[in-house]
Amino acid sequence: MRAADVQDDLTQVLVTEEQILAKLDEVAARVAADYTGKELLLVGVLKGAVMVMADFSRALPTVVPMDWMAVSSYGAGTQSSGVVQIRKDLDTDLHDKHVLIVEDIIDSGLTLSWLLKNFASRGAASVEVFALLRKPEAAKVQVDCKYVGFDIPNEFVVGYGLDYAERYRNLRDVAILAPHVYA
Ligand code: XMP
Ligand code: MG
Repeated sequence: MRAADVQDDLTQVLVTEEQILAKLDEVAARVAADYTGKELLLVGVLKGAVMVMADFSRALPTVVPMDWMAVSSYGAGTQSSGVVQIRKDLDTDLHDKHVLIVEDIIDSGLTLSWLLKNFASRGAASVEVFALLRKPEAAKVQVDCKYVGFDIPNEFVVGYGLDYAERYRNLRDVAILAPHVYA
């Protein structure tokens, strides 16, 4: 996975870059078919979704507009607070757009359920979610997620955009962070 300097911080690789890229091709084919003839807008949630947006958008067969939103619900810890703050809003008017939110991970689901309500109030024609990762055991609220990459165990993971205290985002694989790093 390169970044050999952090091997001791990781206990296990859960999803490899190869598996991710193959999955993105699969999901991109489904999305392309589902949105044929519709005005699709990809909305990435910063910063975790940067890698998945970069690779997923390029797996699509057509050009597609994208926008970004930055929200925060975590602070520096590993547990969602449920209190969502907009750090950077969209630049795009969602009116009549078919929005696909691109997320790195659904953990408690609190961030996405808040985002879905927020987007619904902006007049989008439809709003769906693609989450690369999902932790079914961590769900505090159910989120209607149409496209899911991988269901993973309830462990704190890093890599492929996911961070702990802004580190590890540039790892190519998704790996479990060793508890000694954040304990
Ligand atoms: P919730 O709990 O609201 O989580 O579904 C939303 C956001 O929290 C981040 N998150 C994680 N980041 N490893 C990370 O590096 C994790 O295991 C993890 N779980 C949640 C992530 O940004 C997600 O969008
Ligand atoms: Mg995120």
